[in-house]
Amino acid sequence: MSAAEVSKVVGHELPDKPVTWLKRDLVLYALGIGARDPEGDLPFVYELNSEFRAFPTYPVVLTFKGESQELNVFADRMKGDKVPGLPPADPNKIVHGSQSIEILKPLPLTSGPGWKWKSRYTGISENKTGVVLTIESQLVDPQNVPYAKLYARMKITGDKFNKAIAGPPQAKPIPKNKKPDWVYKDQTLSEQALIYRLSGDYNPLHIGPYKPSPERVERNSSGKPDPAIGQAAGFGGVILHGLSSFGFAARAVVKVIGGNKSDSLKFFGVRFSSPVKPGDALETQIWEVGPGPNGTIEVTFVTKNLRTGKDALGSGIAYIVKSSPHAKL
Ligand SMILES: *[C@@H]1O[C@H](CO)[C@@H](O)[C@H](O)[C@H]1NC(C)=O
Ligand SMILES: *[C@@H]1O[C@H](CO)[C@@H](O)[C@H](O)[C@H]1NC(C)=O
Ligand SMILES: *[C@@H]1O[C@H](CO)[C@@H](O)[C@H](O)[C@H]1NC(C)=O
Repeated sequence: MSAAEVSKVVGHELPDKPVTWLKRDLVLYALGIGARDPEGDLPFVYELNSEFRAFPTYPVVLTFKGESQELNVFADRMKGDKVPGLPPADPNKIVHGSQSIEILKPLPLTSGPGWKWKSRYTGISENKTGVVLTIESQLVDPQNVPYAKLYARMKITGDKFNKAIAGPPQAKPIPKNKKPDWVYKDQTLSEQALIYRLSGDYNPLHIGPYKPSPERVERNSSGKPDPAIGQAAGFGGVILHGLSSFGFAARAVVKVIGGNKSDSLKFFGVRFSSPVKPGDALETQIWEVGPGPNGTIEVTFVTKNLRTGKDALGSGIAYIVKSSPHAKL
């Protein structure tokens, strides 16, 4: 790939993608990220609760869901997303490296028509195993008012170049020799991935090896049937969606710092470090590292997988309004 081709990628706008959601989708998403406790989670799962609203990270699944209420075929989802200057990528070889969301306004409970994603590539950089692309996506209402701004980093096979025009804020390092200010343990369910996928990410990687019938075969980008996508991507078995763990961590931050208030969270970002399997226990460790913008505090966090002892999510950063000075443990 030449430098000129790299320049074509950075700044390239993707076609607008229409999205819709219903209250039911908000509830399903909250369950997919582990909501279940009647004290803190009820506003996200019960439409008659006076505080009923979208969990603030909900927009991250809309890129997968689009405007369909039906299940979709994962391999079809990436078709048409060709990156200029890069060879067509096999959607099953793309690895989600990191994700952030800036929450600009609370979402209405039902979208109605006219909402869409406006996305562009804002960065490209070389990595040992390939190229890392930064994709910026803004969720806008029918009047083009932005409600959320996302940055995703996707790793794909490729060459060496480096250019960026925009990207998310990066986490500050974990303070040395200091215990976390907050710790929150949570338990994923053995059926967590089965619930989470219903929010729109139907990648077979999260449901396990299967024997497709001849008429209903998931095909890879070269048109060949792909019966073992989970193995092909290099994970030994079923793993939980990275964005479900992302949601678990966001719930932890909103619970322990934001007093369970959905409007407390203003920015949230992570790097995906190691896989989580459905049923694993998670522990989110959070350090306050200074003031954030607009009356928030800035925190750095990691989410440990208690089964493996590894960080499942690293380089966590959030801007959140602290619910009360006594909320700290
Ligand atoms: C938030 O919910 C948790 C339970 O998930 C509860 O222990 C805690 O007291 C709640 N915090 C506030 C401020 O309501
Ligand atoms: C790219 O590679 C470097 C070093 O190998 C690593 O630190 C970084 O996390 C990688 N970036 C992504 C987005 O995977
Ligand atoms: C602070 O809030 C203002 C007004 O809502 C907004 O325009 C601005 O982008 C916010 N700043 C940051 C850094 O989030």
